[in-house]
Amino acid sequence: MRVLVAGATGYMGAAVLRELVARHVDVVALVRPGRSLPESIRTVVTVVEADVAEDADWSEQIPAVDAVISCLASRNGAPDDAHKVDYDANRRLLDCAERHNVGHFVLLSAICVQKPRLAFQREKLRFERLLHDSPVPGTIVRATAFFRSLVGQIDRVKAGKPFLLFGNGELTACKPISDRDLARFIVNQLDEHREGTVVLPIGGPGPAIAPAAQAAMLCEAANVPLKTRSLPPRMFDWFRWVLTPLAGLSPRFAKRVEFLRIAKFYATESMLCWDHDHQCYDADATPEFGNDTLAAFYQRILSGDESVPERGEHRLF
Ligand SMILES: NC(=O)c1ccc[n+]([C@@H]2O[C@H](COP(=O)([O-])OP(=O)(O)OC[C@H]3O[C@@H](n4cnc5c(N)ncnc54)[C@H](OP(=O)(O)O)[C@@H]3O)[C@@H](O)[C@H]2O)c1
Repeated sequence: MRVLVAGATGYMGAAVLRELVARHVDVVALVRPGRSLPESIRTVVTVVEADVAEDADWSEQIPAVDAVISCLASRNGAPDDAHKVDYDANRRLLDCAERHNVGHFVLLSAICVQKPRLAFQREKLRFERLLHDSPVPGTIVRATAFFRSLVGQIDRVKAGKPFLLFGNGELTACKPISDRDLARFIVNQLDEHREGTVVLPIGGPGPAIAPAAQAAMLCEAANVPLKTRSLPPRMFDWFRWVLTPLAGLSPRFAKRVEFLRIAKFYATESMLCWDHDHQCYDADATPEFGNDTLAAFYQRILSGDESVPERGEHRLF
Protein backbone atom coordinates (compact mmCIF):
# COMPACT_ATOMS: atom_id res chain seq x y z
CA MET A 1 0.00 0.00 0.00
CA ARG A 2 1.23 3.49 -0.84
CA VAL A 3 0.02 6.40 1.29
CA LEU A 4 0.24 10.15 0.67
CA VAL A 5 0.67 12.19 3.86
CA ALA A 6 -0.12 15.91 3.68
CA GLY A 7 0.91 18.15 6.57
CA ALA A 8 3.89 15.84 7.04
CA THR A 9 6.00 18.57 8.70
CA GLY A 10 3.44 19.25 11.45
CA TYR A 11 3.28 17.79 14.97
CA MET A 12 0.78 15.06 14.09
CA GLY A 13 1.90 14.65 10.47
CA ALA A 14 5.40 13.82 11.72
CA ALA A 15 4.02 11.27 14.20
CA VAL A 16 1.92 9.67 11.44
CA LEU A 17 5.02 9.45 9.21
CA ARG A 18 6.98 7.74 12.00
CA GLU A 19 4.16 5.24 12.52
CA LEU A 20 3.83 4.47 8.80
CA VAL A 21 7.59 4.03 8.45
CA ALA A 22 7.64 1.73 11.51
CA ARG A 23 4.99 -0.39 9.77
CA HIS A 24 7.04 -0.44 6.53
CA VAL A 25 4.31 1.31 4.53
CA ASP A 26 5.38 2.96 1.26
CA VAL A 27 4.95 6.70 2.00
CA VAL A 28 4.80 9.83 -0.14
CA ALA A 29 5.27 12.89 2.09
CA LEU A 30 3.95 16.19 0.75
CA VAL A 31 5.91 19.14 2.15
CA ARG A 32 6.07 22.82 1.30
CA PRO A 33 9.17 23.88 -0.66
CA GLY A 34 11.97 24.74 1.74
CA ARG A 35 10.55 22.66 4.63
CA SER A 36 12.47 19.57 5.63
CA LEU A 37 11.85 16.26 7.37
CA PRO A 38 14.22 14.60 9.87
CA GLU A 39 16.97 12.67 8.08
CA SER A 40 15.84 9.31 9.53
CA ILE A 41 12.47 9.82 7.80
CA ARG A 42 13.59 11.70 4.67
CA THR A 43 15.77 8.81 3.56
CA VAL A 44 13.00 6.18 3.71
CA VAL A 45 10.00 8.03 2.22
CA THR A 46 9.38 9.71 -1.14
CA VAL A 47 9.33 13.46 -0.55
CA VAL A 48 7.28 15.66 -2.89
CA GLU A 49 7.96 19.36 -2.46
CA ALA A 50 4.87 21.30 -3.48
CA ASP A 51 2.55 23.87 -1.99
CA VAL A 52 -0.93 22.38 -2.01
CA ALA A 53 -2.41 25.71 -0.92
CA GLU A 54 -0.67 27.89 -3.55
CA ASP A 55 0.65 25.99 -6.59
CA ALA A 56 -1.75 25.47 -9.50
CA ASP A 57 0.02 22.34 -10.74
CA TRP A 58 1.09 20.78 -7.41
CA SER A 59 -0.76 17.50 -8.02
CA GLU A 60 1.16 16.70 -11.23
CA GLN A 61 4.07 15.52 -9.06
CA ILE A 62 1.95 13.12 -7.00
CA PRO A 63 2.40 9.44 -7.93
CA ALA A 64 -0.48 6.95 -7.77
CA VAL A 65 -1.40 6.25 -4.14
CA ASP A 66 -3.95 3.98 -2.43
CA ALA A 67 -4.81 6.29 0.46
CA VAL A 68 -4.38 9.87 1.63
CA ILE A 69 -3.90 11.04 5.22
CA SER A 70 -4.36 14.75 5.76
CA CYS A 71 -2.87 16.37 8.85
CA LEU A 72 -2.99 19.78 7.17
CA ALA A 73 -4.05 22.62 9.43
CA SER A 74 -3.80 26.36 9.69
CA ARG A 75 -0.81 27.06 11.92
CA ASN A 76 -2.51 30.01 13.63
CA GLY A 77 -6.30 29.59 13.31
CA ALA A 78 -6.79 33.08 11.81
CA PRO A 79 -9.93 33.16 9.62
CA ASP A 80 -8.18 33.76 6.26
CA ASP A 81 -5.51 31.15 6.93
CA ALA A 82 -8.09 28.63 8.19
CA HIS A 83 -10.05 29.09 4.96
CA LYS A 84 -6.89 28.66 2.89
CA VAL A 85 -5.61 25.54 4.67
CA ASP A 86 -8.35 23.78 6.68
CA TYR A 87 -10.83 24.12 3.83
CA ASP A 88 -9.21 24.98 0.52
CA ALA A 89 -5.93 23.03 0.70
CA ASN A 90 -7.88 19.97 1.86
CA ARG A 91 -10.36 20.52 -0.99
CA ARG A 92 -7.46 20.50 -3.48
CA LEU A 93 -6.11 17.34 -1.90
CA LEU A 94 -9.52 15.68 -2.19
CA ASP A 95 -9.82 16.75 -5.85
CA CYS A 96 -6.50 15.03 -6.48
CA ALA A 97 -7.68 11.92 -4.54
CA GLU A 98 -10.86 11.78 -6.64
CA ARG A 99 -8.92 12.07 -9.92
CA HIS A 100 -6.61 9.23 -8.83
CA ASN A 101 -9.53 7.05 -7.59
CA VAL A 102 -7.93 6.85 -4.16
CA GLY A 103 -9.55 4.21 -1.94
CA HIS A 104 -9.52 6.04 1.40
CA PHE A 105 -9.10 9.64 2.62
CA VAL A 106 -8.30 9.95 6.34
CA LEU A 107 -8.74 13.46 7.71
CA LEU A 108 -7.37 14.58 11.06
CA SER A 109 -9.98 16.99 12.41
CA ALA A 110 -10.78 18.20 15.92
CA ILE A 111 -13.50 17.29 18.42
CA CYS A 112 -14.22 20.99 19.00
CA VAL A 113 -15.94 21.27 15.58
CA GLN A 114 -19.04 19.76 17.19
CA LYS A 115 -19.73 23.25 18.62
CA PRO A 116 -18.63 25.45 15.72
CA ARG A 117 -18.22 28.95 17.10
CA LEU A 118 -14.83 29.84 15.60
CA ALA A 119 -13.78 30.54 12.04
CA PHE A 120 -11.33 27.62 11.85
CA GLN A 121 -13.97 25.20 13.17
CA ARG A 122 -16.42 26.31 10.47
CA GLU A 123 -13.75 25.83 7.76
CA LYS A 124 -12.96 22.33 9.06
CA LEU A 125 -16.66 21.44 9.06
CA ARG A 126 -17.08 22.81 5.56
CA PHE A 127 -14.37 20.45 4.36
CA GLU A 128 -15.81 17.54 6.38
CA ARG A 129 -19.07 18.04 4.42
CA LEU A 130 -17.16 17.92 1.11
CA LEU A 131 -15.58 14.65 2.18
CA HIS A 132 -18.99 13.23 3.10
CA ASP A 133 -20.27 14.12 -0.38
CA SER A 134 -17.20 12.78 -2.21
CA PRO A 135 -17.12 9.37 -3.91
CA VAL A 136 -13.83 8.76 -2.08
CA PRO A 137 -14.51 6.81 1.15
CA GLY A 138 -13.40 8.80 4.18
CA THR A 139 -12.56 8.63 7.87
CA ILE A 140 -12.79 11.85 9.87
CA VAL A 141 -10.78 11.55 13.09
CA ARG A 142 -11.99 14.17 15.56
CA ALA A 143 -9.28 14.15 18.20
CA THR A 144 -9.42 15.59 21.72
CA ALA A 145 -6.55 17.68 23.17
CA PHE A 146 -3.00 16.68 22.27
CA PHE A 147 -0.38 16.41 25.03
CA ARG A 148 1.37 19.26 23.22
CA SER A 149 -1.56 21.56 24.05
CA LEU A 150 -1.05 20.92 27.77
CA VAL A 151 2.59 21.94 28.17
CA GLY A 152 2.13 25.72 28.31
CA GLN A 153 2.55 26.04 32.10
CA ILE A 154 5.52 23.75 32.65
CA ASP A 155 8.05 26.59 32.88
CA ARG A 156 5.78 28.59 35.26
CA VAL A 157 5.39 25.63 37.60
CA LYS A 158 9.12 24.79 37.47
CA ALA A 159 9.85 28.41 38.42
CA GLY A 160 7.59 28.07 41.50
CA LYS A 161 4.81 30.22 40.04
CA PRO A 162 1.13 29.24 40.48
CA PHE A 163 -0.63 27.16 37.83
CA LEU A 164 -3.25 29.42 36.19
CA LEU A 165 -6.80 28.07 36.22
CA PHE A 166 -9.98 29.47 34.75
CA GLY A 167 -12.72 29.66 37.38
CA ASN A 168 -12.34 26.78 39.84
CA GLY A 169 -10.35 24.67 37.37
CA GLU A 170 -13.32 22.35 36.81
CA LEU A 171 -15.04 24.26 33.99
CA THR A 172 -13.62 21.98 31.30
CA ALA A 173 -12.15 18.51 30.88
CA CYS A 174 -10.47 16.44 28.20
CA LYS A 175 -9.02 13.00 27.59
CA PRO A 176 -5.59 14.04 26.35
CA ILE A 177 -3.91 11.87 23.73
CA SER A 178 -0.23 11.51 22.86
CA ASP A 179 1.02 12.03 19.30
CA ARG A 180 2.14 8.38 19.26
CA ASP A 181 -1.25 6.96 20.28
CA LEU A 182 -3.15 9.26 17.93
CA ALA A 183 -0.81 8.35 15.05
CA ARG A 184 -1.46 4.67 15.72
CA PHE A 185 -5.19 5.29 15.73
CA ILE A 186 -5.00 7.22 12.45
CA VAL A 187 -2.83 4.62 10.71
CA ASN A 188 -5.07 1.79 11.97
CA GLN A 189 -7.89 3.34 9.93
CA LEU A 190 -6.09 2.29 6.74
CA ASP A 191 -6.98 -1.34 7.57
CA GLU A 192 -10.70 -0.53 7.54
CA HIS A 193 -12.74 -1.01 4.40
CA ARG A 194 -15.01 2.05 4.11
CA GLU A 195 -18.01 2.45 1.83
CA GLY A 196 -18.89 6.04 2.77
CA THR A 197 -17.44 8.46 5.31
CA VAL A 198 -17.44 7.98 9.08
CA VAL A 199 -16.72 10.42 11.90
CA LEU A 200 -14.65 9.05 14.80
CA PRO A 201 -14.22 11.18 17.92
CA ILE A 202 -11.20 9.92 19.88
CA GLY A 203 -9.37 10.65 23.11
CA GLY A 204 -6.51 9.11 25.04
CA PRO A 205 -6.88 6.68 27.95
CA GLY A 206 -9.30 8.04 30.56
CA PRO A 207 -10.47 9.28 32.93
CA ALA A 208 -11.25 12.80 31.71
CA ILE A 209 -8.93 15.35 33.31
CA ALA A 210 -9.95 18.87 34.40
CA PRO A 211 -7.33 21.65 34.60
CA ALA A 212 -7.35 21.42 38.44
CA ALA A 213 -6.22 17.78 38.23
CA GLN A 214 -3.72 18.72 35.52
CA ALA A 215 -2.22 21.30 37.91
CA ALA A 216 -1.87 18.66 40.63
CA MET A 217 -0.23 16.23 38.17
CA LEU A 218 2.25 18.80 36.94
CA CYS A 219 3.20 20.03 40.43
CA GLU A 220 3.74 16.44 41.57
CA ALA A 221 5.97 15.73 38.54
CA ALA A 222 7.92 18.94 39.23
CA ASN A 223 8.10 18.07 42.93
CA VAL A 224 6.78 21.49 43.98
CA PRO A 225 3.83 22.30 46.29
CA LEU A 226 0.49 22.70 44.48
CA LYS A 227 -0.11 26.41 43.92
CA THR A 228 -2.91 27.73 41.68
CA ARG A 229 -4.37 31.12 40.77
CA SER A 230 -7.88 31.53 39.40
CA LEU A 231 -8.61 33.80 36.43
CA PRO A 232 -12.07 34.72 35.12
CA PRO A 233 -12.67 33.40 31.56
CA ARG A 234 -14.54 36.65 30.93
CA MET A 235 -11.15 38.41 30.82
CA PHE A 236 -10.93 37.31 27.18
CA ASP A 237 -14.24 39.14 26.50
CA TRP A 238 -12.93 42.31 28.18
CA PHE A 239 -9.81 42.34 25.98
CA ARG A 240 -11.98 41.56 22.94
CA TRP A 241 -14.34 44.47 23.63
CA VAL A 242 -11.32 46.82 23.84
CA LEU A 243 -9.84 45.54 20.55
CA THR A 244 -13.07 45.11 18.56
CA PRO A 245 -13.33 48.78 17.43
CA LEU A 246 -9.76 48.51 16.06
CA ALA A 247 -10.51 45.25 14.21
CA GLY A 248 -12.20 47.13 11.38
CA LEU A 249 -9.09 49.29 10.92
CA SER A 250 -6.42 46.62 10.74
CA PRO A 251 -6.32 42.88 9.88
CA ARG A 252 -3.76 42.50 12.69
CA PHE A 253 -6.35 43.55 15.29
CA ALA A 254 -9.06 41.46 13.58
CA LYS A 255 -6.81 38.41 14.04
CA ARG A 256 -6.20 39.31 17.70
CA VAL A 257 -9.96 39.46 18.25
CA GLU A 258 -10.34 35.97 16.75
CA PHE A 259 -7.47 34.64 18.90
CA LEU A 260 -9.25 35.96 22.01
CA ARG A 261 -12.41 34.12 20.91
CA ILE A 262 -10.31 30.95 20.51
CA ALA A 263 -8.77 31.39 23.96
CA LYS A 264 -12.20 31.91 25.58
CA PHE A 265 -13.49 28.82 23.78
CA TYR A 266 -10.72 26.60 25.19
CA ALA A 267 -11.06 28.15 28.67
CA THR A 268 -14.74 27.25 28.82
CA GLU A 269 -15.43 24.26 26.53
CA SER A 270 -14.42 20.66 27.14
CA MET A 271 -12.70 18.52 24.52
CA LEU A 272 -15.20 15.67 25.01
CA CYS A 273 -18.22 14.42 23.08
CA TRP A 274 -21.19 16.77 23.28
CA ASP A 275 -24.52 15.24 24.30
CA HIS A 276 -27.10 17.15 22.24
CA ASP A 277 -30.08 15.71 24.12
CA HIS A 278 -28.82 16.73 27.57
CA GLN A 279 -26.83 19.79 26.36
CA CYS A 280 -23.68 18.78 28.21
CA TYR A 281 -20.30 17.15 27.60
CA ASP A 282 -20.19 13.41 28.19
CA ALA A 283 -16.85 11.94 29.25
CA ASP A 284 -18.20 8.37 29.22
CA ALA A 285 -19.35 8.73 25.61
CA THR A 286 -15.90 9.94 24.48
CA PRO A 287 -14.01 6.96 23.05
CA GLU A 288 -10.53 6.21 24.39
CA PHE A 289 -7.49 4.82 22.66
CA GLY A 290 -3.88 4.06 23.56
CA ASN A 291 -1.75 3.72 26.66
CA ASP A 292 0.19 6.97 27.08
CA THR A 293 -0.89 9.03 30.09
CA LEU A 294 -0.44 12.74 30.67
CA ALA A 295 1.01 12.09 34.15
CA ALA A 296 3.78 9.87 32.71
CA PHE A 297 4.41 12.44 29.94
CA TYR A 298 4.87 15.22 32.56
CA GLN A 299 7.20 12.93 34.56
CA ARG A 300 9.37 12.29 31.48
CA ILE A 301 9.59 16.01 30.66
CA LEU A 302 10.35 17.07 34.21
CA SER A 303 13.02 14.38 34.56
CA GLY A 304 14.64 15.51 31.30
CA ASP A 305 13.93 12.23 29.46
CA GLU A 306 11.78 14.02 26.88
CA SER A 307 11.85 17.60 25.62
CA VAL A 308 8.86 19.93 25.60
CA PRO A 309 7.19 19.74 22.17
CA GLU A 310 7.63 22.83 20.02
CA ARG A 311 4.34 24.74 20.09
CA GLY A 312 5.01 27.28 17.33
CA GLU A 313 1.96 29.44 16.79
CA HIS A 314 -0.25 27.12 18.89
CA ARG A 315 0.22 28.95 22.16
CA LEU A 316 -3.48 29.78 22.40
CA PHE A 317 -4.72 26.28 21.45
N1 LIG B 1 -3.76 21.00 19.27
C1 LIG B 1 -4.67 20.13 19.71
O1 LIG B 1 -4.77 19.84 20.91
C2 LIG B 1 -5.60 19.49 18.73
C3 LIG B 1 -6.57 18.66 19.22
C4 LIG B 1 -7.40 17.98 18.31
C5 LIG B 1 -7.23 18.16 16.96
N2 LIG B 1 -6.29 19.02 16.51
C6 LIG B 1 -6.17 19.17 15.05
O2 LIG B 1 -5.10 18.35 14.56
C7 LIG B 1 -4.67 18.86 13.30
C8 LIG B 1 -3.15 18.84 13.19
O3 LIG B 1 -2.59 19.61 14.20
P1 LIG B 1 -1.01 19.78 14.34
O4 LIG B 1 -0.78 20.29 15.72
O5 LIG B 1 -0.30 18.56 13.89
O6 LIG B 1 -0.75 20.94 13.28
P2 LIG B 1 0.65 21.68 12.92
O7 LIG B 1 1.76 21.14 13.76
O8 LIG B 1 0.40 23.16 12.97
O9 LIG B 1 0.91 21.25 11.40
C9 LIG B 1 0.19 21.81 10.36
C10 LIG B 1 0.65 21.20 9.06
O10 LIG B 1 -0.10 21.85 8.00
C11 LIG B 1 0.84 22.45 7.10
N3 LIG B 1 0.39 23.76 6.62
C12 LIG B 1 0.01 24.82 7.36
N4 LIG B 1 -0.27 25.87 6.57
C13 LIG B 1 -0.06 25.45 5.29
C14 LIG B 1 -0.17 26.07 4.03
N5 LIG B 1 -0.55 27.34 3.89
N6 LIG B 1 0.14 25.35 2.92
C15 LIG B 1 0.54 24.06 3.03
N7 LIG B 1 0.68 23.41 4.22
C16 LIG B 1 0.38 24.10 5.32
C17 LIG B 1 2.10 22.69 7.90
O11 LIG B 1 3.18 22.79 6.99
P3 LIG B 1 4.47 23.74 7.31
O12 LIG B 1 5.34 22.93 8.21
O13 LIG B 1 5.04 23.96 5.95
O14 LIG B 1 3.94 25.00 7.95
C18 LIG B 1 2.14 21.44 8.79
O15 LIG B 1 2.68 20.37 8.08
C19 LIG B 1 -5.31 20.23 13.19
O16 LIG B 1 -6.41 20.11 12.30
C20 LIG B 1 -5.80 20.55 14.57
O17 LIG B 1 -6.92 21.38 14.58
C21 LIG B 1 -5.45 19.68 17.36
